[in-house]
Amino acid sequence: MSVGIIGTGHYAPDNIVTNKDLEKMVDTTDEWIRSRTGIEERRIAKDDEDSSDMAYEAAKLALADANITAEELDLILVATVTPDTPFPSVSCMIQEKLGATNAASMDVSAACAGFMYGVITGQQFIQTGVYNHVLVIGVDKLSKITDWTDRNTCVLLGDGAGAAVLGKVSDDKGILSFELGSDGSGGKYLYQNEDNYLVMDGSSVFKFAVRQMPESSINVIEKAGLKKEDVDYLVPHQANIRIMEAARKRLGIPEDRMAKTVKQYGNNSSASIPIALSESLKQGKIKDGDVIVMVGFGGGLTWGAVALRWGK
Ligand code: ACO
Repeated sequence: MSVGIIGTGHYAPDNIVTNKDLEKMVDTTDEWIRSRTGIEERRIAKDDEDSSDMAYEAAKLALADANITAEELDLILVATVTPDTPFPSVSCMIQEKLGATNAASMDVSAACAGFMYGVITGQQFIQTGVYNHVLVIGVDKLSKITDWTDRNTCVLLGDGAGAAVLGKVSDDKGILSFELGSDGSGGKYLYQNEDNYLVMDGSSVFKFAVRQMPESSINVIEKAGLKKEDVDYLVPHQANIRIMEAARKRLGIPEDRMAKTVKQYGNNSSASIPIALSESLKQGKIKDGDVIVMVGFGGGLTWGAVALRWGK
């Protein structure tokens, strides 16, 4: 028995903020943002739309896609660094909204790598035979911790949610290998300050990410007993097109075989990988039997990668 993703869904707020809009707010240009990051626009949630609201929309779509009811969920894991409140957790809010009466719930904090941590945590419960279905959601409303006067960060960030239902799949499909890691000594490069704003040393995070994304990807490929050539599709954390391209080139993956949502969503943290996965599936870019690698990094510092063979 293997554990795989049996349904996905995503949600992004309607409100689009373009680079041109940001030119009016901070000393920046559309050209600088595009050339340094690949971002053209991002979605920003309304004041009264919180992480739990976005997570709920993504969750409903993932359940429908998996063709299961909320009552069939055993566990809800929500990866977020921007919960509505420290407690109750977003996952408990989702449990109530969905009517998932049989589910345990907890939030996972691993910044942009949170969805990877959630998927692997959920996998363990199914692999050991105690649970059948786990809902994993990556959601962040970074706009509420963004300093809109800081051009170093505000041009990069956005809001959104992505969800996946984990379940049992046939032996030759599902999760093949994973790697999770952390290095607290790099916490000073990316954190929330006393004013509650996200603060980042961009070039240190950039150097870490450019090294870690390809390294973790290669590690999971090797752990799965595969070669780089066996990978059909790459779903990297959508922080910066230059970081994503560095990973893609190290793996020798053709340009059209990498998920790219950074252009229209920017970096929406825990939501970035599940949104990129869900969009790629809806666009028919991932076929049954494809080997895909998902890989992320984030504040902590944290990182995580998963290799899986797509399908039920
Ligand atoms: N517009 C114009 N100029 C800017 C802007 C801006 N928005 N932001 C910074 N600059 C300036 C800098 O001040 C600097 O000026 P200086 O040379 O006079 O000091 C200049 O541009 C060049 O800055 P660099 O740091 O060299 O630019 P770089 O090419 O490294 O790109 C970037 C900066 C995009 C932030 C990059 O370092 C990066 O992407 N880092 C990783 C970010 C990331 O992935 N964060 C992840 C996590 S977020 C989370 O976990 C929630």
